[in-house]
Parts: sequence; C-alpha cells; structure tokens
Amino acid sequence: MNILVTGGGGFIGSHLVDLLLKQGHSVRVLDNFSTGHRSNIPLSNSALQVVEGDIRDQMTVEQTVSGVDAIVHLAAVASVQASVDDPFGTHEVNLIGTVNLLEAAKKHSVGRFVFASSAAVYGDVKQLPVCEDIPLQPLTPYAADKLSSEFYIDFYRRQYGLESVIFRFFNIFGPRQDPSSPYSGVIGIFMERAIADLPITVFGDGDQSRDFVYVADLAILLCRSVESDQPLIKPMNVGNGKGTNLNQLLDYLHEFTGRPLDVSHFEPRLGDIRHSLADNRRLIEMMNYQCIYPVVDGLRLTYEWCLDRSRMNSDAVCGRIS
Ligand code: NAD
Ligand code: UD1
Repeated sequence: MNILVTGGGGFIGSHLVDLLLKQGHSVRVLDNFSTGHRSNIPLSNSALQVVEGDIRDQMTVEQTVSGVDAIVHLAAVASVQASVDDPFGTHEVNLIGTVNLLEAAKKHSVGRFVFASSAAVYGDVKQLPVCEDIPLQPLTPYAADKLSSEFYIDFYRRQYGLESVIFRFFNIFGPRQDPSSPYSGVIGIFMERAIADLPITVFGDGDQSRDFVYVADLAILLCRSVESDQPLIKPMNVGNGKGTNLNQLLDYLHEFTGRPLDVSHFEPRLGDIRHSLADNRRLIEMMNYQCIYPVVDGLRLTYEWCLDRSRMNSDAVCGRIS
C-alpha cells in the first residue's frame, strides 16, 4: 500500500514509519519538522518519500494526498499545555489541519483515514477506568480540537463514505520522545534530567497518574488498522488499563540511575487531569490486541535509549573539544 503519515518525523510517527516500511509498504511523510526530526526517519530508504510542508497549507496537503491509499494523521501540536498558552495557534494545526486532510482525502478518494485522538477528550473523569461511551468533557483547547476533529471525521464518513478509524491514545512513551521543550511528555523530560543530574519539576504532589503505553505497541496497532479492511467505526481507547503515578515513575528512575534525584514541586498546571486510566475492552475486542509491553519494561528500554543518546552527545562534545 501507499500510505501517508502526517507527523511521520515525530515521536510516534517515526516508529510507525519504520514498521510500515518493514511490512513492505511505500510511505510518504508530511511534516514541517516543528517538533519532529529528519534524523528520526530512514531518509535513504527508497520506499520513503518525505514532503517538508505544513498541514495548515491547503495546497500542500492536496498535492501530498494525491495517489495515497490511506492516511494516518498524526501531525499536531501534541502538548496540552501549549494549547492553553496559544489556543489560536494550536487550533489552526489541530483542527484546521485535520479538515484540510479530510477535504483532500475526499477529493482523492482515499481508502482509509486513521486519526490520533486523545484521552484528553474525556476530561477529569472520577469513575475509572474510562470507557469510550461516557459523556465527553474536553477541558482544554487541545482536547476540544481533538474532539472536533473526531466529529469532522464522522461527518466525512457519513457524508462521503470515508472509512475512518479513531484511536484515543492515552500517554504514549518510548525512544525518540523529544525531551527538549517544557511542553514535552513527562517521561522523556524526567529521564533526560535524571541522567544529566539536573533538577526535576513535578507539577502538584506527583500523585497524578496516567495510563502509559509503550510506543512499539501503538505502532503495531496503527499498522494493523491501516492494513485491515474491517470497518472500525467506533472510537477506541489505546491504553494498558494500568495506572502509574509520577511518584512511582520517579521511584523507577531512582532505581535505574542508582542515585537520589533532585525533585521540586510546583503548582499543578491549569487544566491538568488528575487521573487517567483506559478501559481497553473495545480495543481488545475490535483489534484483537492487548498491549505486549508492561510499563516497567518500556521504561527500561526507554532509559537505555536515553542513556545511549546522552553518551553519544557527550562523545560528540568531547570530540569537538579535543
Ligand atoms: P510529536 O510532536 O513528536 O509529533 C508531531 C509531529 O507533527 C512532529 O513531527 C511535528 O513536526 C509534526 N507537525 C506539527 N505541526 C505540524 C504542521 N503544522 N504541519 C506538519 N507537521 C506538523 O508528538 P507525538 O507524541 O508523536 O504525537 C503524535 C500524535 O499523537 C499527535 O496528534 C498527538 O496529539 C497524538 N497523541 C499523542 C499522545 C502522546 O502521549 N504522545 C497521546 C495522545 C495523542
Ligand atoms: C499527554 C500528551 C497528549 C495526550 C495526552 C493523552 C504529550 C506532550 N502530551 O498529555 O498529547 O493527548 O497525554 O492522555 O505527549 N508533568 C510534570 N513535570 C514535567 C512535565 C509534566 O509534573 O516536567 C506532569 C504534568 O503536569 C501532568 C503529567 O506530568 O500532570 C503528564 O504530563 P504530560 O506528559 O505533558 O502528559 P498529558 O498532559 O497527560
């Protein structure tokens, strides 16, 4: 198949690109490399085509979609906090970008449209785990744009017969998650700072918990959803069904590094969700898939990757000095 991955240079996208190429597919990546990196993807692979462009740009999107069989739409401003700080800027990417892709998919009769929605659409739910059918309460611009994107996708499915798959990812982690911005995912930030012996900031008391999923599990699911010809109409949670709080994460990191960590606590972030945990029964039933990687195994693999990267960076610096 010929598959377009928007955001294919990013953390999740690059793992999917690797797997799709391994499965023998041709892959086109559309990315503006705002948070993604060219170095994440195998640029010399002849089955990979990279288009550097912006999903906000209608013309670029239309040209890039031409000739593809399926789209996996991952490009977005992935940070909840960034959407609180800049609602207009993130809205243009996270909703208008989606509508641009849907219009192009309609025009070019694309077979399947797979979308990265988020657990953020549920809001701060008291009754856990959350199943897909509970009333949705998006609390942030990020969550509102993800939910609106779901509604638009549903419209294109009903109106134009676009086959769509909506996954509501819980917290995905693993190698290549960029830790360099305060908007980055918590595991990448904590690991990088623990390895470099830098202070770690916890917003709140650290008791807030997430359902962390190792990225290799997600790549398998996304790949299967593109290859499947089964209708997968209802949105599906992608979670492990197990909660881990930030204090537990810090305990694991303490164990991995063998050193005490320098941890400070600040006020909780505005709109932050306290606990998030997936009911993953629908995923198991519809995709016949249950996450393979226990969180602690994924954490260890990620830690090893972060250590290697930090060693490579310090070798490069020493090389330059000597
Ligand atoms: P990421 O930032 O690593 O990836 C996003 C990619 O999109 C990057 O390569 C970035 O350069 C690209 N991009 C951003 N704006 C763009 C634009 N205007 N035009 C073209 N490309 C653009 O983040 P990620 O964690 O890999 O997230 C991928 C998707 O999964 C996002 O849609 C995110 O909202 C969703 N998601 C992520 C998580 C998670 O825990 N990481 C959870 C739920 C949903
Ligand atoms: C994450 C994803 C979002 C996704 C959502 C689904 C990222 C950047 N965000 O949001 O795309 O839709 O899961 O559930 O991948 N924290 C600290 N210190 C830090 C950084 C974070 O204490 O240095 C805290 C945050 O306040 C929050 C928790 O860690 O309580 C998780 O934060 P984060 O990794 O940004 O994830 P979500 O906001 O859950």
